Amino acid sequence: MSADPGPTDPGPTDPGPTGGLGRTAVVTGAAGGIGEAAARRLAASGTRCVLVDRNPQVERVAAALGGDAVVGDLTAPETSQRAVAAAGDRLDVLVLNAGTNSVDKDPATLDLGRYQAVVGVNQHSVVYGLRAALPVMRRNGGGAIVVTASLAALQGVEQDPIYTMTKHAVIGLVRALSGPLSREGIRLGAVCPGLVDTPLTAGARDRFHAAGIPVLAADEVAAAIEQILRAGEPGTELVVRPGLPTAHYAPAPLP
Ligand SMILES: NC(=O)c1ccc[n+]([C@@H]2O[C@H](COP(=O)([O-])OP(=O)(O)OC[C@H]3O[C@@H](n4cnc5c(N)ncnc54)[C@H](O)[C@@H]3O)[C@@H](O)[C@H]2O)c1
Repeated sequence: MSADPGPTDPGPTDPGPTGGLGRTAVVTGAAGGIGEAAARRLAASGTRCVLVDRNPQVERVAAALGGDAVVGDLTAPETSQRAVAAAGDRLDVLVLNAGTNSVDKDPATLDLGRYQAVVGVNQHSVVYGLRAALPVMRRNGGGAIVVTASLAALQGVEQDPIYTMTKHAVIGLVRALSGPLSREGIRLGAVCPGLVDTPLTAGARDRFHAAGIPVLAADEVAAAIEQILRAGEPGTELVVRPGLPTAHYAPAPLP
């Protein structure tokens, strides 16, 4: 009997008959905004998507894209496990995008429930997503992962120090993990957008407009996510700002 699996078996590392993005993806925070835009691009290239969000609206978005929805709170590790299980026996792409901002600026008056909710989704859910997905990607022999960070991952944003902390944490995780994962065929990178017009910022839309503050469209960030998924070197950090070309970021060398 030949060891050749034959033309109908895609093999462990073959991305499948898609536009090169992979056959199956999980996208978190996909009920709207950047996550929905990223899922749209993945679905358009033929990738089957599992969309995860606590907002039940995600079911409508998933149905429109021919994908599946998992409704749940990503601050609970089980939600990530359910999402990866819903993807089936392989997972090529993971977009860890769910997140939110914080209204608390002064640690002295921090509401602890709100604090834990923000850290829970921005920071812990990224770890939970990796914890759930990496065993499947390893079994398949590879994969591509993008974390939605922020410009607040690269500089201090006075308007939201807690958010800044969480986004610095995830960029640190990407920097520390991308090398080891790359040696297993898993590429991990991050997208770092400036202000984006999404449901998260919709309340301030008129204020941004009146002040002449430019904002990105969600699809501009999704395009950068797609760029990393398709061809990003491990550890790629792409900065996306309104009116400027998408740019690679590299931390300054130590003095
Ligand atoms: N909008 C911006 O200006 C901007 C800028 C830089 C980075 N980001 C980041 O982009 C990512 C996507 O944000 P967006 O702007 O598209 O906002 P969004 O509010 O449209 O999308 C975030 C999604 O995450 C979901 N979510 C939040 N907490 C959750 C939880 N605990 N469990 C499950 N789902 C949860 C929300 O329901 C929402 O659908 C976030 O990580 C955000 O920090 C946004």
